[in-house]
Amino acid sequence: MFNFDYHTPTKIVFGRGAENRVGDLIKSYGGSRVLIHYGMGSAIRSGLLNRVKNILDEAGLFHVELGGVVPNPHLDKVRTGFALGTLNQVDFILAIGGGSVIDSSKAIAFALAEPETNVWELFEHTRRAKASLPVGSILTIAAAGSEMSRSVVITNEQTMEKRSYGDTLARPKFAIMDPELTMTLPAFQTACGCVDIMMHTMERYFTNGGNMDITDSIAEGLLRTVMKHANILRIKPNDYDSRAEIMWASSLAHNGLTGCGSDGGDFATHNLEHELSGMFNVTHGAGLSALWGSWARYVHKDCLPRFVKYAENVMGVESGFNKEETALKGIAATEAFFYKINMPTNLRDLGIQPTDAQIEKMAESCERATGGGIGSAKKLKKDDMIAIYHAAK
Ligand code: NZQ
Ligand code: ZN
Repeated sequence: MFNFDYHTPTKIVFGRGAENRVGDLIKSYGGSRVLIHYGMGSAIRSGLLNRVKNILDEAGLFHVELGGVVPNPHLDKVRTGFALGTLNQVDFILAIGGGSVIDSSKAIAFALAEPETNVWELFEHTRRAKASLPVGSILTIAAAGSEMSRSVVITNEQTMEKRSYGDTLARPKFAIMDPELTMTLPAFQTACGCVDIMMHTMERYFTNGGNMDITDSIAEGLLRTVMKHANILRIKPNDYDSRAEIMWASSLAHNGLTGCGSDGGDFATHNLEHELSGMFNVTHGAGLSALWGSWARYVHKDCLPRFVKYAENVMGVESGFNKEETALKGIAATEAFFYKINMPTNLRDLGIQPTDAQIEKMAESCERATGGGIGSAKKLKKDDMIAIYHAAK
């Protein structure tokens, strides 16, 4: 196993009605002038935005609001948030939404804390942040795990580059998690979220560097739990307990817990997907689902013991004499699960047909963005990435 630091300072307030505590929470982290940030309208339609504004009024907190964050959030909106935040001297960002809104909030918080700098440089990895304003969230979709994570993912819509930045400073101060708030999600978004949660766990599981039984057990239990409750939500979308299980899983899958003792994880599927999202604006979870099987078949021989363990402990494949066959059965069972929850298992299902030139461009960009290659199950270079995109067609 590898040495590790584990520090997840985000306070979790979980359960029915948790959002009623938002005013006190903001104050407890020193906030007095709040930028409320939200997406394309779900928070308005559900009435949540108005409820939150009333709570902040009652708490005597000044607030301004900025909506319109799109999925795969844009740099342009971050710049608008920076301008609005500067004008109103905000000292706290409250995200109401999912990964896109939280990431846009995190980026605005970085921009406001260092107003003389260009925030995109963080995503180009040409400098590190020195400070951030505090961010809190009211989570409305269980998926990205941004509510506890150290990552921020922003798309530069001018260059069509989707880039991530990781920093402990990006961990939000608090996350309010009321499973009932996720009941208005379309079935597609619920399923995309379940895939993303699984993938955050699997990215850390399929490695060749350092493993611990305790970490594996947590990861395997989390994966089995998400599959069980994704199946329930398909039939009973308003099942509170299943919503709660999935919501908590989203945070645990991406706050570092399922990677303790490993080499940092593989994350090739995520980086390949970010190129897809950047070029074709696909929904993150669906993009992951469309690519994973092709990635897994491409790399499984280089990480065979882990694929066998996964097949047996997560997908319930019977131990067989032929290890490779067991691994392939585990991959097929995972795809069958994705199919069952109406997720794509190739790019056609996803509704896109990249040309050879587009595949070349995505692979080139992915290699560049990852500093020359990515992966722990198998280190992928540009040619490997091209092969995986083609296999997924
Ligand atoms: O914009 P609104 O109208 O709010 O609609 C959203 C959006 O269309 C909708 N939605 C959210 N809550 C809802 C709801 N609709 C009805 N009822 C509700 N309660 O769901 C759609 C998707 O929202 P989004 O925030 O985009 O989803 P998600 O949480 O999956 O975030 C995806 C983004 O996070 C990034 C992804 O790349 C993508 O940009 N990621 C961020 C990570 C991080 N910061 O740690 C890690 C992830 O791997 C991921 O890359
Ligand atoms: Zn993800």
